[in-house]
Amino acid sequence: MEVFRWITEQLSGSSLGNKDNTGKKSHKPAPMTIEVLYSDLQRTKHYWWDKLQNNVATETPPSEVDATEIIKGIEDRINSHKFKLIDIPSNIQKIMELVRTKKYDYLILEEHLKCSPVMTGEILKVANSALFTGKQPVHKLTDAFPRIGEERLISILYIGLSRSFVLSHQDKLIPIAENMVAHSHAVANIASVLAQPYGLNGEIAYVAGLLHDIGKIALLCDISESTEIIDLYDYIDEDSFSRILTPLHESVGVLIAKKWNLSEEIMTVIGNHHNLFFSESNSEKNSSKLSALINLSDTLAHILGIGKPITGVNLFDLESAQILGIKETEEHIDHLYQVPSLFENFKELLNED
Ligand SMILES: [Fe+2]
Ligand SMILES: [Fe+2]
Repeated sequence: MEVFRWITEQLSGSSLGNKDNTGKKSHKPAPMTIEVLYSDLQRTKHYWWDKLQNNVATETPPSEVDATEIIKGIEDRINSHKFKLIDIPSNIQKIMELVRTKKYDYLILEEHLKCSPVMTGEILKVANSALFTGKQPVHKLTDAFPRIGEERLISILYIGLSRSFVLSHQDKLIPIAENMVAHSHAVANIASVLAQPYGLNGEIAYVAGLLHDIGKIALLCDISESTEIIDLYDYIDEDSFSRILTPLHESVGVLIAKKWNLSEEIMTVIGNHHNLFFSESNSEKNSSKLSALINLSDTLAHILGIGKPITGVNLFDLESAQILGIKETEEHIDHLYQVPSLFENFKELLNED
């Protein structure tokens, strides 16, 4: 990789000329410390995640919705068990039951999905995505099922039905929901492709990534009931609701995870992908690795602009990178360079270094 050729060049001093201790110009380069090299590397912004953060445009923030009343309403509904969790239609429920009890063949699953063209499209899209690069395109669900696997299939159904749940609500909130779903798919793909060297399963990482912000979608549905407040604003986006979504989405996500009977490990990620505090017990250590992977993938998705663009992040300083043991070495950097190849718009980043 070019970055490492540059490092070697800098350490050997081949591009430097320095004065010796007599003050005369010497051809012998002064030794470069790793600290100097590190700060130079930082300044040059060689890595794709640094370059993208450098290019973040400053936008005028949209109006922030007055959240006090809405939050109070949400908290009241949660406390009185009246908060609407996302219901699962009967055909999807049937598919999930068949998959969980292993009583299915692919033709039966296909039959149950016939009345859901949107879900069918979503499943085929994932089966033909960059996650399965090198595989023949598939056009039938019966070919897509074995490729994507049971866990991925169920999570695609969950996110698909959550999406249609929002689409049936307030028009103004639809673009926000679409962006949330696109962000969730990006996090799922990134987590799935990065998982293996950290001892994590790619399919489980995909599920955790796809469902990590499910609480935001449920909150959006609830917010859509407050029409009189939403109508006060001409333009709103996810940021307009940050005072509601940021503090509440993990705990609301856990309520959904319980209702949907998701596994303990997925529930832990949904409830703890921003706050990465875990105890030292072995089971928590494993959960903390999956949560850290989702936290890192979430950050990378934001850096790619799939979700609110962010800036000022040094990837190697992140708590998630430290939990996963990610260091600024060729091996780790090469691994992170797989991420842009997942997204058509960002593939050119791979050839720029
Ligand atoms: Fe989140
Ligand atoms: Fe997220």
